[in-house]
Amino acid sequence: MLEKRSLAIKPANTTYEEAAGLVDGPTTSLFFLRAKAHIQSGDKVLVIGASGSIGISAVQLAKYFGAEVIGVCSTANLKFVKSQGADKVIDYTKDDFTKNGETYDIIFDTVGKNSFSCCKSSLKKNGRYLLTIGNMLTNYVLMLWTSVIGSKKFIYGMSIEKTEALIFLKELIEVRKIKPIIDKDYPLEQIAEAHRYVEKGHKKGNVVITV
Ligand SMILES: NC(=O)c1ccc[n+]([C@@H]2O[C@H](COP(=O)([O-])OP(=O)(O)OC[C@H]3O[C@@H](n4cnc5c(N)ncnc54)[C@H](OP(=O)(O)O)[C@@H]3O)[C@@H](O)[C@H]2O)c1
Repeated sequence: MLEKRSLAIKPANTTYEEAAGLVDGPTTSLFFLRAKAHIQSGDKVLVIGASGSIGISAVQLAKYFGAEVIGVCSTANLKFVKSQGADKVIDYTKDDFTKNGETYDIIFDTVGKNSFSCCKSSLKKNGRYLLTIGNMLTNYVLMLWTSVIGSKKFIYGMSIEKTEALIFLKELIEVRKIKPIIDKDYPLEQIAEAHRYVEKGHKKGNVVITV
C-alpha cells in the first residue's frame, strides 16, 4: 500500500516542519508551471497571490526556470516577495495589473482573485492563465473550450501524483536554488487556532502543525 503513496526522503538541510511545507504549495506550483504551462526560460510570468503557499514557491520556481517574474501581493508583502526572487512586485491594493498595458506568457492565479476573462488582455499570444481553484466543472469546460478556440489558454488541474515533484524539490533545496517558507508553526493542541489563521487568507508561505 505504502509504495503507491507519494513519498520522498526529507531534504538533508531542512527541519521536518520545513519539509512538511513542501508537500502542498511547492508541489502544486511545480505541477502548474512545468507540467501544465510548460514554462520556458525567458517567459514573463505574473504570479497572483505571490506571498501565499503556492504563490511564493511559484515565484521561486519560475525564477529557477529562468523566467522574468512579477509578483502580485499586498503592501506588507512587497519586500518579502522580492526577497524570494521576483523581478518586480505589484501592490494589488494600489495598482490594477490588468490596466497597466503589460502582457505575460503565463498568469498564475494561485488564489482565484481574478478570472480568465479579466486577465485575457494581459496575456500574450499563446499565453496561459493558470487557476488552482474554483468550480471544477466550469473550469474543465473553459479549459476544453480554450484548447480549441483562440490562442490564449485557460488551464486548471489537480496536483495529485507528487513523488517525482517531491524528489525534484528536495534536490533544488539541497543545492539552495529554492527554500521552504514557514509562516507559523503550531503545536497539535492549537490546531483550531492554526485553521483560523489560515482561513483569514493572508498567510505567508506555509503553516505547519507539529505533532
Ligand atoms: N489545484 C490544486 O491542485 C491545488 C492544490 C493545493 C491547493 N489548491 C488551492 O489553491 C488555493 C491557494 O492555496 P495557498 O495555500 O497557496 O493559499 P494561501 O497561502 O492561503 O494564500 C494566502 C495568500 O493570498 C494572498 N492574497 C489574498 N488576497 C489576495 C489578492 N486579492 N490578490 C493577491 N493575493 C492575495 C495573501 O497575501 P496578502 O496577505 O498580501 O493579501 C496571502 O499571502 C487554495 O484555495 C487551495 O485550496 C489547489
